[in-house]
Amino acid sequence: MIIVALDVEGLEEARKYLELLSPVVRIFKIGPRLFIPYGNQIIQLVRSYNCEVFLDLKLYDIPTQVAESVRRIVELKVKMFTVHALGGERMISEARKVLEKYPSSQRPLMLAVTVVTSMEEKDLHFLGFKNKINILVYKLAKLALNAGADGIVCSVKELEYLRAKLGKNFIGVTPGIRLKRTNRDDQRRIATPQEALSAGADYMVMGRAVLSARDPLKIVKEVMK
Ligand code: C5P
Repeated sequence: MIIVALDVEGLEEARKYLELLSPVVRIFKIGPRLFIPYGNQIIQLVRSYNCEVFLDLKLYDIPTQVAESVRRIVELKVKMFTVHALGGERMISEARKVLEKYPSSQRPLMLAVTVVTSMEEKDLHFLGFKNKINILVYKLAKLALNAGADGIVCSVKELEYLRAKLGKNFIGVTPGIRLKRTNRDDQRRIATPQEALSAGADYMVMGRAVLSARDPLKIVKEVMK
């Protein structure tokens, strides 16, 4: 299933894409770029088109702060949200405890971001991570799932590895999707929709490949086909 990242400037532009894409796209991703200025207003805008929200704030803080933030996220009635797996086992399990206080029908899915898809091995080595990316992603994913995450956000390449090592019992979300493998922006670990599908992605996040297209609706329909 496609999730469109509403990485746009403001409400008007968001409305334009919702108008165009909501007949075929069921979930829109909201990041800090829209959530900081508009908060609940942008969430309600997406919901007013009968669509659901993936709130991608990649929470990363001490466990108490994340747990309290998760409680506020539940009140926003989003479908899914992200924490950062680097926040560690305690941070994620405290967030899980908060979610368990609500009936399953009111509980959003908690996804753990492993390593953003704009980073390459050399970036990680510079930061002191000595593992290969897929091993690091595997370690973070295992930690996050054991601590209570429902799913993992990672690149297509690593998802293939995770499916082989950890099976199918978690939701796999892959950003970094490009229609062609020629890439000139900030993303590095990219893949095509076809590759995402065969790697076992449940959801693929598409931002610029859709938003910058001359005909975004056509692109979405083609990818869905
Ligand atoms: O425009 P593009 O398709 O590259 O956008 C990708 C989206 O996915 C952005 O909104 C970005 O925040 C998000 N994302 C990512 N890598 C992750 C997690 C989220 O690129 N690991």
